[in-house]
This record gives sequence, C-alpha cells and structure tokens, in this order.
Amino acid sequence: MTTTHEFWLAGRRATGDAEFEVHHSYDGSLVGKVSVPTDAQVEEALDAAVAVAPALAASPAHLRATALDHVARRLTERTEEIARLITAENGKPIKWARGEVGRAASVFRWAAEEARRTNGETMRLDTDPGGVGRFAVVRRFPRGVVLGIAPFNFPLNLVAHKVAPAIAVGAPIILKPAPATPLSALVLGEILAETELPAGSWSVLPVPNEKMPALVQDPRLPVISFTGSDKVGYQIMDSVPRKHVTLELGGNAAAVVLADWSSEADLDWAATRIAMFANYQGGQSCISVQRVIADATVYDALVEKVVAKVRAQVTGDPSADATDVGPLVDENAAKRVESWVDDAVAKGAKVLVGGTRDGAAYAPTVLAELPDDAILATAEVFGPVLSLHKVDSTEEAFAAVNDSKFGLQAGVFTHDLQSAFKAHQVLEVGGVVIGDAPSYRADQMPYGGVKDSGVGREGVKYAMGDFTYEKVLVLTGLDL
Ligand code: SIN
Repeated sequence: MTTTHEFWLAGRRATGDAEFEVHHSYDGSLVGKVSVPTDAQVEEALDAAVAVAPALAASPAHLRATALDHVARRLTERTEEIARLITAENGKPIKWARGEVGRAASVFRWAAEEARRTNGETMRLDTDPGGVGRFAVVRRFPRGVVLGIAPFNFPLNLVAHKVAPAIAVGAPIILKPAPATPLSALVLGEILAETELPAGSWSVLPVPNEKMPALVQDPRLPVISFTGSDKVGYQIMDSVPRKHVTLELGGNAAAVVLADWSSEADLDWAATRIAMFANYQGGQSCISVQRVIADATVYDALVEKVVAKVRAQVTGDPSADATDVGPLVDENAAKRVESWVDDAVAKGAKVLVGGTRDGAAYAPTVLAELPDDAILATAEVFGPVLSLHKVDSTEEAFAAVNDSKFGLQAGVFTHDLQSAFKAHQVLEVGGVVIGDAPSYRADQMPYGGVKDSGVGREGVKYAMGDFTYEKVLVLTGLDL
C-alpha cells in the first residue's frame, strides 16, 4: 500500500481532507499520494507566515545562514535518494536528477553565504551644500511573505531558487509545488524541519491549481515568484498589478555557430553540446536548445555531426545510468510535441532524425527547413526538438536570435572576442554563453529573461534583491 505524503504547514507535518496521486511517466506506476491542504489549513499557514514575518526579518544572519547551510549539507548527504525521487516523479534521467540535487545544494550554500555577507551600503550626502553633515545608510528589508509557485521541470532546484533566497533575506515563504512533481519539495520540507527556523517561516502546500487565483490575490502575500508558462505568468501579473511579481517564463533558446568556429574539434564540440542540451530532460528546460543558427560556411559539416550525435542519444528508462533522454512529464506533453512536429512537416519541414512518439516519450528530433508559419517556429516546444537554420553573416545570425518573442539565454560558438562582446551588446536575452550551448546555468548567476521570457532575476543574490526593497537611513548633524 502506498502511504500518503503529508505536506508542511508552518514548518510541521499536516494532512488535509483530500489527496492526489503522482505517477511515473515512464511506466505509469504510482510513485506516491499527496495530501491536499484544506482552505482552513492554507489560512493557518498564511496567518503563521504573517505573524512570524517581523521576527524573521529581524533575525540574526547566523540563524538563517546556519539553517541554509544545514539544508545544503543534508541535500548532499541524501543525493541519491532524492535524485531517484526526482526521476520517479518527473521522468528525468537519473544522471540529470543527481545534477539537480547538487545544484540545489549549491543554491542553499550560496544563500547561506549571501545571508552572511549582505551589509547594505553607505552614501555620502555632502555632495551638495544642503547635505553637509549628513550621511546615509541604505539597507534592504523584506517586502513581506513570498508566494513561490514552482514548475515541474526542476522539481527541486527551481523550488530551491525560491525558498533559499527568501530565507536568506528573512522573508517567510509559502511554496506551492507543481501538481505533477510535489514529492521532492516535500522532502525539502523534511530537511527544513530539522533547522531552527521559527514556525511559520516556510510552508510547502500542494494547493490545487484551481485554488491558486485566490492565493495570488491575497493581500498578505505581496511578493509572487512564479516559474512556468508565459500564459499563466502574465495572467498572474495582470491580475495583481500592485504586487511585486517576478516571472521566469519560457524561451526558444538559440545556439549560434559563427564562421570562425570551423575546425573539426570546434564542430565536434558544438554538435556534442547542441545534441545534449536540445534533449536533456526531454527538452523540458526553458534554456534547452530549440534553434541552431549556423553560418553557411560551417552549416553542412555541423548538421552532419548534430544529426549523428542526436541519433546517438540513449533513450529509455530514466532510472538507468546510461539513459540520456527519458519520457516527457506525461503522455499529453508528448502528444502536444508530436502534433507540433506534424504541423511543421505538413507545412514543409524536413525531419532529419526522430519525429516519433512512444507513449510519453518523444524521440530526439532534428528538423530542417522549418517554415515561418509552423507553430514550432515561434512557440516554445518544451520537448526534444531542434530546428536548423542557415545564415550568411554574424549580423544575420544575431538578428535571427532576436526574431523571437522570447529572450532568455543564447549560446554563441565563436573564438572572436569582438563577436562575443557584440553578442552581449545586441542579443535581446538575459544571458549570453560564449563557446557553449545556451543551456549553461550556474546557480549564482543572474538568470531570467527579457521580452516574453519574464521579469526579475533568479540566481540567489538577484532573487534576494527582488524579495526586498531598499530603505535609506539619513543621519544628520554629523561632524564628518
Ligand atoms: C528553467 O527551465 O528555466 C531552468 C533552467 C535551469 O535551471 O537550468
């Protein structure tokens, strides 16, 4: 018999009056049942968060940093167990799940460090006659309780990116995990419960999606940190224009290969990284490679290598160490990807490899000659599908990257420093990676988008900025 997982209400275990099931998308097996909080329990969590907010904001840095360090250490100790859980609830291959646990530990470690080093800044005011004898101290204070809404594609690490910075700044957080993948967030709750953080500082509440609009509207939650689709993200933002909302949304990330990236070794590396990062986690990452934009002088050689390396991706059981590409999160996701590839093919695209579905698994797929009117030409596929585009110059390549409603990250394969800085200057994205795929993310980096890819930045220090506001203290009558 499968036991029902309790949720975390103001730091303690609780059970509601309903439950839902989490299934493994590879074999359909039941991974766990999860208890759903009642409306009264959600109220209780909110009241507790509001009640603890002043004390948590004023708590000493060592208390918060010690708790964050503890979480980092325990995640590391429990890596294999939690990685297996991520694989079971999400379907991502175990090697990527292990990497995710390692990254989450790093997020908590960074949060501990940032909590210790956050000092604010000082500012002289005697730069004008009216400021003589005056001096300012600028410090940041929590905006209030954070509502964190997490996606299914990184069920632990994108939860970590909300919880860790909130604790670091001393803001209580109500965390709502994705319905498909709540289990690793609940294990994170187990670890948080081992710390000395005061009751009410955090709750993990698997609230059903249909109940979220009321929580989003709740005035006790002035900060919303959402990761997910652009549609839902902008619905949230538009529904609460006076709240501080950060949105980490989609992308259709491009890998650009410029003419100077032309040796055999160069093209091998680019093809290896493109094939890997178009397909990691079944392409279910906002920065997985969706578009390859290559200079005509290297295009044919690159395509040959990309197709060979995509064909060599090991598909199948995500719990096997050798597997590169597992199933998508569920069969509906794979059917949607299939319908978008079919749409592209019906409009003239050529399938160079892949293009087939088996249940929730979609085969790693490479398309050429993608027509502009195909859904895939503009939408985020969130699946293992990559399209190839040939251009005649660096300018044309960068214009092609920008010809998108999204702007999250871009990868540019070049050895040329001028081209690297030009990419940094002109690409309409939140991050540019030189010499690698756009999918590179170190968790302390600012991470987020422009255009329809969102607003605000994750990356521990930057999220801490979003969860706080500056308050200036002016001192007068000083003999400076
Ligand atoms: C995302 O899908 O936006 C997260 C990517 C990552 O953290 O690597």
